[in-house]
Amino acid sequence: MKLLISGLFAAALMVTSAEAQQKLVLGLATTTTSHYGVGAQKFLEVLEDLSGGAFTGEISPSGQLGGERDMIEGLQIGSVDIVITSSGPMGNFVPEVYALDLPFLFRDYDHARKVLDGDIGKELLAKIDENQLVGLAWSENGFRHVTNSERPIRTPDDLKGLKLRTMENRVHMEAFSGMGAAPTPMAFPELFAALQQGVIDGQENPITVITATKFWEVQKYVSLTGHVYSPALVLASPSVMDGLSDEERGWFYEAAAASVQATRDEVNRLEETGVELLRQNGMEVITDIDKAPFAELARSSYAVYTDQYGTEMVERIQAVE
Ligand code: PAF
Repeated sequence: MKLLISGLFAAALMVTSAEAQQKLVLGLATTTTSHYGVGAQKFLEVLEDLSGGAFTGEISPSGQLGGERDMIEGLQIGSVDIVITSSGPMGNFVPEVYALDLPFLFRDYDHARKVLDGDIGKELLAKIDENQLVGLAWSENGFRHVTNSERPIRTPDDLKGLKLRTMENRVHMEAFSGMGAAPTPMAFPELFAALQQGVIDGQENPITVITATKFWEVQKYVSLTGHVYSPALVLASPSVMDGLSDEERGWFYEAAAASVQATRDEVNRLEETGVELLRQNGMEVITDIDKAPFAELARSSYAVYTDQYGTEMVERIQAVE
């Protein structure tokens, strides 16, 4: 009898854990081998480990679920569980995030990471949480550079009239208008074909993305303008997070932190090796760029943020050492 009861108890436990098992869908606009892909794999690996297999997941890469804006909407309605995205489209959902998208604001990677890991990063994650999203952690895309198929870009004059794809981000569009280009917002999954067909002349993205997307197949010049730092986010859907215990929620945050570290390591690696890879694949890399005139012309874009929220946050970011 005792044996029968303990057998039934074990069977009941197995049913409970099988029922509790949840397979998550994690969306990315970039490939599984990209810096986000590395971070995504780490996220799922750590989460599965911490939860003893209760949470597993599968990556949906390369914009299969749409552009980053579509995927963020998917999180809000619960059709996607986790997304690693740039901050590019976030301002459309949480305008306070535009503070991080301002051009020539971050001095270098150390500065950006310090801001995102500190109070400012935490405050902005809390704002994100007020908008039917859960901000698990700030991750990284990298400093963005201009590529195009028309000419080397060394001065703002070289940008004049260039049809340049930007993210769907008001700050970036205003910055490129200020610098003289003709900004054309477009979701990332449409970009490669648009460049191939000559619908647009150029685009801007970090070395991480230029290498992962093999933009050398459709672009000749890359100018290391480093005009803006591009933060990324590990976001979760409230439809996943709301029903969890504190311990389970903790696993998600821990997995996100491990994902960020893996992504930053990959960004570091590509910052060291990526430019050479671009050259090897036939791109002309322009490094002799005076950033000051670009920064001056891009300054008008700060008003997109400061007209609504004032200059305090910008000054706080600049003051972080
Ligand atoms: O250019 C973009 O839209 C983003 O940088 C990308 C490539 C989707 C990564 O977040």
